[in-house]
Amino acid sequence: MSALAQEIIVDPNKLSQASELQKMVIKGGNELNGRIRISGAKNAALKHMVACLLTDEPVNLENCPVNLGDIKMQAAVLKTLGAEVVLREDGMAMIHAKAIESHVAPYDLVRKMRASVLILGPLLARYGKAEVSLPGGCAIGTRPIDMHLDALSLMGAEIKLDGGYVKAEAPNGLKGAEINFSKVSVGATENIMMAATLAKGVTIINNAAREPEIVDQGEALIKMGAKIEGLGTARLVIEGVEKLHGITHEIVPDRIEAGTYMIAVAMTGGKVVLENVRPEHLTTLIGPLKEAGMHIEQDGKDLIVERNGVDLKGFDIMTEPHPGFPTDLQAQLMSLMTICKGAGMITETIFENRFMHVPELIRMGAEITVHGNSALVRGVSGLKGAEVMATDLRASVALVLAGLVAEGETVVNRIYHLNRGYEKLVEKLSACGADIRLA
Ligand code: UD1
Repeated sequence: MSALAQEIIVDPNKLSQASELQKMVIKGGNELNGRIRISGAKNAALKHMVACLLTDEPVNLENCPVNLGDIKMQAAVLKTLGAEVVLREDGMAMIHAKAIESHVAPYDLVRKMRASVLILGPLLARYGKAEVSLPGGCAIGTRPIDMHLDALSLMGAEIKLDGGYVKAEAPNGLKGAEINFSKVSVGATENIMMAATLAKGVTIINNAAREPEIVDQGEALIKMGAKIEGLGTARLVIEGVEKLHGITHEIVPDRIEAGTYMIAVAMTGGKVVLENVRPEHLTTLIGPLKEAGMHIEQDGKDLIVERNGVDLKGFDIMTEPHPGFPTDLQAQLMSLMTICKGAGMITETIFENRFMHVPELIRMGAEITVHGNSALVRGVSGLKGAEVMATDLRASVALVLAGLVAEGETVVNRIYHLNRGYEKLVEKLSACGADIRLA
C-alpha cells in the first residue's frame, strides 16, 4: 500500500487524553465572512470504513474527515482486527482487510465510540464470528442495540452477552431473512445492509432508515459488487453475493457540519460561502431558515449563506428520521432560537435525554422551558459569555455557536467531544473572523 501524501499516525488513547484537558475560549460579537470547505460526512465515513471488512481487496475512501477523533478510533478498531489502514492528510483513507486476524473489538476502543458496533454485520458475514464490547459514545439516552442483534439472529447468528461483550457466531454463514424494524434506526439499517451483502439468499429490510449517509454507503457497496435495491426508500432488498471487491469512493459531504455553519451565520450575521454542500440533504433546515429571514442560494457545489442585518423570527421544529429534521442539528438550532425574535418550540422525537445543552444555554442568559420532549425557547435580546460544559458532540458545538454571539468571553470545557466530529473547527471559524482559540 503506497502512501505518498503525509500519513496521520493513529494513537487514539493519546488523542482523547490530551483533548479532555482542553478548553475552547470564544470572544463573541464578530460576524462571520469568508469561505468554509465542508468535510466528508463523519457518519458516512465510519460506516464505509467498516464495510471494508467485507472484502479482501483494498478500498480507497476519498474526502474522508481523517482528522476526526472518531475516524482515528475506527481506524484503530480496524487495525486491531488485522486490516492495514492508512489515513492521509489529503483526506484519503486507504484500507485493506486482506485477512481478518482478530474478531474482537475491545472495550478500550469501543467505549468512546458507538459506531464500532457496526463491525458485527460485516465480520459475521465474512468471517462467521464477531465480538464487540457493548458500545459507549455520546451520552444521549440509553441507545440500545437490540434491533441490530435481533436482526442478526434472524439471519442465523447465535448471539450471547458475556462480560460486557456481544459474542456472535454464524458458523454456517448468514442467511437472508425478512427484517421488520420496529423503529427507524440508522445504525441497524447499515449493519444489516452490510451483513446481507454476503449472506446466502435475499434479505428484505422493512422500515429502513433513509439518511443520505446510508444511500452513500449503499452506493459504495453496489460499486463493490453488492446487489441492493430500494436505497433511499423504507424497503431495502439485498441479494447476497459470493464476494465483494475493492473500489475507490468519494464520501458524501457532511450535511450536519454544513448545517452547523449555516446556523452559525444565522446567529452572527455576515456572508459565508460553504463549499462542497448537497443542499438537497438540508431542505428541512434551509426552508425554515429562509422563512426566518436568511438569504441562502446555491451556486454549483457552493452554498451562499447570508444574513444581512435582518432580525430572524423564531419557528417550531420537530426532529424525525430523514427526510425529517435531523436530531443532530437540534442543539445548534436551539442556540439560534435563543436569540430569534419571538418564541419557537423544539420537539425531540429520536433520543430521550438530548436536551443537555439547555441548562448550559440558560447559564448564558437563554430563556428555555422544557416539557417532556419539547423545549419552548423565548428569544432574548442577547446572550452573555459564561464557563460552560460540553456533554455530547452536537451539544458542544451548540455552545460554541452561542459563544460566537455572546457578550464577552465563553469558555467551553470538555471539548474532546468536538474533536470527535468537527474537523478543524477553530481554523474554519477563525478564518471567517471568529475570535476563537484552544486553551
Ligand atoms: C446515528 C448517528 C447519530 C444520529 C442518529 C439518528 C452515526 C455514527 N450516528 O446513530 O449521529 O443522531 O443516527 O439520526 O451515524 N434504537 C433502538 N434499538 C436499536 C437501535 C436504535 O431502540 O437497536 C433507537 C435509539 O435508541 C434511538 C433510535 O432508535 O432512539 C434511533 O437511533 P439510531 O438511528 O440507531 O441511531 P445511531 O445509528 O446510533
